[in-house]
Amino acid sequence: MTQEDLFKNIIAHAKEYGFVFPSSEIYDGLSAVYDYGPMGVELKNNIKSYWWESMVRQHENIVGLDAAIFMHPKIWEASGHVGAFNDPLIDNKESKKRYRADVLLEDYLAKQEEKIEKEVEKGRKRFGEAFDTPQFLATNPNVLRIKEKINTVGQRMKEALQRNDLEGLRQLILDCEIVCPVSGTRNWTDVRQFNLMFSTQMGSVNDDANQIYLRPETAQGIFVNFLNVQKTGRMKIPFGIAQIGKAFRNEIVARQFIFRMREFEQMEMQFFVRPGEEMKWYNYWKAERLRWHSSMGLGPDRYRFHDHEKLAHYANAACDIEFAFPFGFKELEGIHSRTDFDLSQHQKFSGRKQQYFDPETNESYVPYVVETSIGVDRTFLALFSAAYAEEALEGGESRAVLKLPVVLAPVKAAILPLVKKDGLPEKAREVWQLLTYDMSTQYDEKDSIGKRYRRQDAIGTPYCITIDHQTLEDNTVTLRERDSMRQERIPVSALRNRIREQISFSHALSRLNG
Ligand code: GAP
Repeated sequence: MTQEDLFKNIIAHAKEYGFVFPSSEIYDGLSAVYDYGPMGVELKNNIKSYWWESMVRQHENIVGLDAAIFMHPKIWEASGHVGAFNDPLIDNKESKKRYRADVLLEDYLAKQEEKIEKEVEKGRKRFGEAFDTPQFLATNPNVLRIKEKINTVGQRMKEALQRNDLEGLRQLILDCEIVCPVSGTRNWTDVRQFNLMFSTQMGSVNDDANQIYLRPETAQGIFVNFLNVQKTGRMKIPFGIAQIGKAFRNEIVARQFIFRMREFEQMEMQFFVRPGEEMKWYNYWKAERLRWHSSMGLGPDRYRFHDHEKLAHYANAACDIEFAFPFGFKELEGIHSRTDFDLSQHQKFSGRKQQYFDPETNESYVPYVVETSIGVDRTFLALFSAAYAEEALEGGESRAVLKLPVVLAPVKAAILPLVKKDGLPEKAREVWQLLTYDMSTQYDEKDSIGKRYRRQDAIGTPYCITIDHQTLEDNTVTLRERDSMRQERIPVSALRNRIREQISFSHALSRLNG
């Protein structure tokens, strides 16, 4: 199966089992907006809790905040979002479709990479066992020509973006002979800058003075509350403020399911430090965040750091943690050393001092900030796509299973009476009652036991508990484990402790700390 087919299956599975629905579907949907169904909301809440517990509960110097989505419009002038939160866009005059100029070029580069793969494939077929991939890549004239093209186009694109050279981007699109995927023509408009913030009106008077924005990042709510939190919590530097909340961006190219959305959720933490100590903390948070990702057990090969070469004007270091999504390695989380840019800008625009008095050095200063910023929806997609597997079983059967980290699974245990008679449902409800205070559970008595196992595998339930006639005699049940499908007989009295430890955040977090 190709990665593209796999991704299609993953999206279909997310819908079929109540994880993610297209928004407003009965009206043909709303582009790049999605709703989370009964299973999706549980998984999403578990992701948020896991992040919150590890950030706020596990660090004595990190506290939480829940700032409003609407903020004073001057905030977005101070932060630079009004002037510079732009994407370069280009329209095709025939199809009237709008594209991000840099994305058209990135797609073109990806196609060139695919061409290299095809050349390798051809070579492998031709030379069989004797085929030497590294040597082929280093010497084949076709491959070398394509590589040269990739380097030249990549370099020109980078330079044009760095210089904000919109005409240069357009010329590159023309030189690469990129056609509109819809009309198939090269009839392009000029490239223009497009601001990604959504705006709306506040109050009843419809003039510019009342124009406000839906926040494009949660971070500014933290910056403008820096002194409120520091003073009321008597926080001493270094300390952090964590927040989870919605953010909105009018993405031109919204695609890849919930990877790039127009309404999404972020989990951000701003860590306020002494000027001059920011690199120490930047490296600390890089390592910490990778450890957090690793604690979910998806395997180290799925993550990599991507250090930014081109830094935003306010940053003195920045990197992404990238994840191996079905469509390749892409950004999952950003870690940025933002200097004192944001607080200094707010000091300037609001006219209010944003300084901290450091009792250890007897100095007042505007703190520097190291930020960790991760999307809830991208984390969801990372976990969901890595967990999804289609497995062949004995007897010609197959199953779709979500091997989600146990601690994040939407349903932890399913309670299944073998048959719907002989007092088994009543006994099963007793077991359900025993567990339901400690974990999310499902009771299911419909269909054959095999079908019920398949349904639970499909939503990632780590434990199935089957109540049969023997249960009535000796009060034991069958406990089936999702990944291995191993079954064991255990007393009802042992069930709670047995499952509780595996599903507890403290168990997973102790792995993080150990
Ligand atoms: N405060 C810094 C900031 O917002 P960012 O790299 O623009 O930085 C941080 O965004 C994270 O938010 C990304 O790593 C990604 O996980 C998530 N994110 C950004 N744009 C998104 C979108 N359109 N849809 C879904 N998630 C998005």
